[in-house]
Formats: sequence, C-alpha cells, structure tokens
Amino acid sequence: MQKTIYIILLGVFAAFLLAGCKAGGDNQGREYAANMYHSVAYEPLTQITDESAGTWVNSLDNGRGEYFNSNKYNPNRMNMRDPVPNTVRRNKNGWLPYRYGIDSLAYAANVKNPVDSTAAIVASGKVLYEVYCNHCHGPKGLGDGKVADKVAGVANLTGPAYLGISEGHIFHVITRGKGLMMAHGSQISEEDRWKIARYVKVLQKK
Ligand code: HEC
Repeated sequence: MQKTIYIILLGVFAAFLLAGCKAGGDNQGREYAANMYHSVAYEPLTQITDESAGTWVNSLDNGRGEYFNSNKYNPNRMNMRDPVPNTVRRNKNGWLPYRYGIDSLAYAANVKNPVDSTAAIVASGKVLYEVYCNHCHGPKGLGDGKVADKVAGVANLTGPAYLGISEGHIFHVITRGKGLMMAHGSQISEEDRWKIARYVKVLQKK
C-alpha cells in the first residue's frame, strides 16, 4: 500500500516536472527561475514591450511585469539610441580614422605625430622598428637588413633623399606602402606606427 502511494506520488511529481519541458515555436516552456533569464536592467538588443509580461514574478511596485524590458520614450522602444548621423568613431586615444589613401602622400606628410616625444616612446619605437623594419632596412636604417639582398631596392633611410621626410610621411609609407615596399597598416596598430615614425627620425640623426 505504502509502496503504491509512493509510486503514485512519484508519477505526479514526474508529470509536473515534465510539463515544464514542453517548448517550441513561440512557447518558451515554463520558466522556473525567470530572473535568471531576463535581465532586470535594460538590454540593448532584447525587446519585451508587453508591460504586463511577468507580472506574476514582479517584485517591483511600478505596476510593470518583471520581464518588461524596453524604453518606451525612445523611438521604436529601443533601449539603445542610434548615434547622430555622420558620427565618426574615434579610437581609445580620441583619434579619428586615418583616411589618406596610398596616392595622398603629399597631404599625409603634413599630418603631425600625435604621440609624445618621451624617451619611453622612442624606446618602444625602437623595439617595434626592430620587429617590423630591421630585416629590410637594417638596425641603423642603412637598407642592409638580413633580407635586404632578397628584396629589390630597399631604401637607405639615412640617405640624403630621406633625411628631410616628415614623421607623417614615414607613417603614411608604413601604413599604405610605397613603390616596392608593401603596406604594414594591417599588421601594426596606428599608435605603434606613429612610434616607429618617431624612432626613424631619431635613427636618422645618429
Ligand atoms: C620587405 C622589406 C621591407 C620592410 C619590412 C620595410 N620596408 Fe620600408 N622600404 C622597402 C623598400 C623596398 C623601399 C623602397 C620603396 C620604393 O621606393 O619603391 C622602402 C622604403 C621605405 C621608406 C622611404 C619611402 C619613400 O618616401 O621613398 C621609408 C620611410 C620606409 N621604407 C620605412 C619603413 C619602416 C618604418 C618599416 C617598418 C615598419 C619598413 N619600411 C619596413 C622595404 C621594406
């Protein structure tokens, strides 16, 4: 007898448990820990516009359901707002994107180097130069790097033709490439390219 009651109770319990497993289409199934699925804070990408959604679990006294998650004062009830038209993304340093194309060297040469001129910056420019430029241009910039004889026409950066070039010019050549030198813009971050440009000027004075 006791065993039968036990089995019946187990069956009822299992039926309850399984009833919550039904899901499909618009039916998400039963939620046992609703607060864990739906953030109370606004989320930019989920939209639950029904103010009564989840009233049964509501712990707030603003008359809205727990799942309500959209900003009714924004257009389309979006939680995030579109940026103002023509907004341009800046990087973490506040710099605008570099837009000069490969054939705009004359303009690019006038761009000022935005990084500081401290010894630490020059030192890190040296390290970066050794990683990205040494093998062609050589440690002193003489165009005598280890692979220089395999690459045609590596420039001697200390030659008279290059002594007068600006940091903007060097930055542009690293970024977009020039003639026989390939672009390095995709391999080296913008900040690091400016550091290298700073270092090349230091190198030329040695
Ligand atoms: C694969 C070899 C190679 C690497 C790596 C390389 N360069 Fe060059 N670089 C060249 C060659 C070749 C030229 C000559 C391009 C030409 O005039 O056709 C050149 C030219 C230059 C010039 C002169 C551009 C001008 O106005 O004529 C500068 C400045 C320069 N490189 C800087 C760098 C810096 C800085 C790096 C490191 C980020 C670097 N290069 C990496 C091969 C290389």
